[in-house]
Amino acid sequence: MSIIRRVRKAIKSFAFGGTPVPQRVFLGQRSPQTEITVWLHGMGSPIDVTNRHAMACAVPFILCLPFDANEGPGEKEANHLSLKFCEQDGQRRVLGEIGLKLVQRVMLDGKEFILFGARGTANYCMSRLRLWAHYLLYERAERQAHNTPDITLTFRGRRAMEVMFICPRPISLVSVITDIKGNMFPVNVMGDLGDGYFAFSLRSPKIPAHLVADAGRLALSSVPFEQGAFAYQMGINHNKQSINWYELPFETKASSSFQIPVPVFAYRVREMEVEKIQPIGSHTMFIARVISDECYSAGQELFVVHGFYEAWRLKKNNGEWSAALKEDATIKAAARYKSSPV
Ligand SMILES: Cc1cc2nc3c(=O)[nH]c(=O)nc-3n(C[C@H](O)[C@H](O)[C@H](O)COP(=O)(O)O)c2cc1C
Repeated sequence: MSIIRRVRKAIKSFAFGGTPVPQRVFLGQRSPQTEITVWLHGMGSPIDVTNRHAMACAVPFILCLPFDANEGPGEKEANHLSLKFCEQDGQRRVLGEIGLKLVQRVMLDGKEFILFGARGTANYCMSRLRLWAHYLLYERAERQAHNTPDITLTFRGRRAMEVMFICPRPISLVSVITDIKGNMFPVNVMGDLGDGYFAFSLRSPKIPAHLVADAGRLALSSVPFEQGAFAYQMGINHNKQSINWYELPFETKASSSFQIPVPVFAYRVREMEVEKIQPIGSHTMFIARVISDECYSAGQELFVVHGFYEAWRLKKNNGEWSAALKEDATIKAAARYKSSPV
């Protein structure tokens, strides 16, 4: 190996800690995940919001937290809150933080769903040097790919997203039908809001957002990790008016109340009615009420984390990137299925 190549390798190894980490890593987890606890700080004792918060929008970065009537933060307090993403066992280390700022209050059935932006962020999964090396690498890769993304995240928005995805987040399949159209597509910009409420967000200009708004109801199916490739492939359905249910590469059955086609492989199917449609920025947030919740079995489900957290997790568990990426590749590689628009 030439001296220049050796020096380059040494710099790379110093800056990236070995191999640069990917931004998105798929992995199998039991639901609800038990690796990370998300704490809300700034309203007295920290409040565990692990299973009571949702990603709501990418541009601008916005998340949603639910509060009972008259229990939400006041104007001043709301701009001083923060979320801390902590290891659930072991030393309970803080792995990331998002300082919150109030964006909007959404009132529904006497509850308050508060939308927050990011005031600031901190990520402790890696040293600052390695984080910055990756920020530059990601930027360069995007420039070189010459793809002009239809949404561009701000610097702070990106960092906030990386912290949000320290907490493993499930990917589910939404099924929706109206009298004349139907579709099934994956979602991960979502979250439980407690008390039977659930929020998910869809890109505002895209077809699924209009379809869900028209239908007013849907079925949300969990995805077993082994079937994860199907969910990934169905990302393409976000660009379709409608799909042909008979062309799906897996069997479906009718959901219990709405009779909407759902995958037979789903461990859990929740049927929901949309109660609030809130356009935000790049996304429209749907707040829905769960009207049926059926659990058929349990096992490893499809989850996604940011590579920064995966790197920390592998270090903690003496895991190997090669094994993690092999698991991840099984999801990303399979692109056998392409349903045609109806
Ligand atoms: C696993 C997965 C999860 C996704 N989750 C969401 C989501 O929650 N909200 C959304 O609007 N789009 C979601 N999408 C759609 C993508 O953002 C994208 O629009 C889609 O894959 C089509 O790609 P294209 O826009 O590059 O053609 C998801 C896609 C995939 C593959």
